[in-house]
Amino acid sequence: MNANFSFQSLATCSQTKARAGIFFTPHGPVETPRFMPVGTLANVKTITPAQLRDTGAQMVLSNTYHLHLQPGEEIVAGGGGLHKFMGWNGPMLTDSGGFQVFSLSEMRKITEEGVTFRSPHDGQIIKFTPERSIEIQNILGADVIMAFDECPPYPATRQEVEAATDRTYRWLERCINAHQRPDQALFPIVQGGVYLDLRARAALDLGKLDMPGFAIGGVSVGEPPELMAQIVQATAPLLPVNKPRYLMGVGTYREMAIAIASGVDLFDCVIPTRWARHGTAIVQGERWNLKNAKFREDFTPLDETCPCYTCQNFTRAYISHLVRSQEILAYTLLTIHNITELIRFTQKIRQSILSDRFFTDFGHWLTHPEENLQ
Ligand code: GUN
Ligand code: ZN
Repeated sequence: MNANFSFQSLATCSQTKARAGIFFTPHGPVETPRFMPVGTLANVKTITPAQLRDTGAQMVLSNTYHLHLQPGEEIVAGGGGLHKFMGWNGPMLTDSGGFQVFSLSEMRKITEEGVTFRSPHDGQIIKFTPERSIEIQNILGADVIMAFDECPPYPATRQEVEAATDRTYRWLERCINAHQRPDQALFPIVQGGVYLDLRARAALDLGKLDMPGFAIGGVSVGEPPELMAQIVQATAPLLPVNKPRYLMGVGTYREMAIAIASGVDLFDCVIPTRWARHGTAIVQGERWNLKNAKFREDFTPLDETCPCYTCQNFTRAYISHLVRSQEILAYTLLTIHNITELIRFTQKIRQSILSDRFFTDFGHWLTHPEENLQ
């Protein structure tokens, strides 16, 4: 047991496995279910921590891989640790680096010891092992740190996925031994690809360990949406009921609604922030390109039901103008709105679970996928 962290369930849905709860961390509570914005390089691109707070963000994610390359964990520690360095005193989570090595760097090589790759900055050879990842994450100082895992690609054979899943378990044991800071919660990650029996076995094996929370990884890697839903449905309910469950890299309305119905509590995704920087707004589940001619003279807010700073103060026409002119403020305003929108979606679901109206109010996201664009 780690006394610095606890998960309190406040309500469970009578028709699904959805639950509403609170995850307590040393930097404050996280009301679940909740979407976590991504702040890869110790910032959420284009917005300040004060603006981030106003979106309703509670926990924010950052990345070991990126921070190790630039500015380096010692600089972050010199600045007082991740929270102080970036001016965000709410809960933080760092991902462990392995997944990013695989998706972002060249010349990577994986062995039982760990992963070696070439730094995209200066070509230097860098090695990440479970021990090194945990050491870096201990130095960075997020509230939640992630185990160093191997996420197999999609598609991959059963043998390949089984080997990666077993290795992820062995690496977890090394992560647990390396972990030094009781004020940080180490979350294991369930792998297993699209093989539901491998998923189930991994979830049960990890669930036997007394960890403060659990993650489901290896989804949203190119598999069809129905498969992702099956994976989450086969995995989440097998994880300990009294600990938070985090589905990594997922953040569309439909995927979140389905995962919440299976008992998932936390999400992260780059979609709202990345799309904002491409001039795209998420409005009630739809994807709007603000360069579209129809917005040029539309003097209404992006979403008149949205309480965000952007919707309270600016029109579609104004944001369209900023996007067309490539003004930096366009990306700030869209980032504020998009993050607010996704967090608001999870907050509304949370309220619906608390009043046992989740299935009534959000069941259509589970049953009529074709209606939902985002
Ligand atoms: N982010 C999205 N998916 C994954 C995963 O499977 N592992 C890790 N470490 N991070 C992720
Ligand atoms: Zn808004």
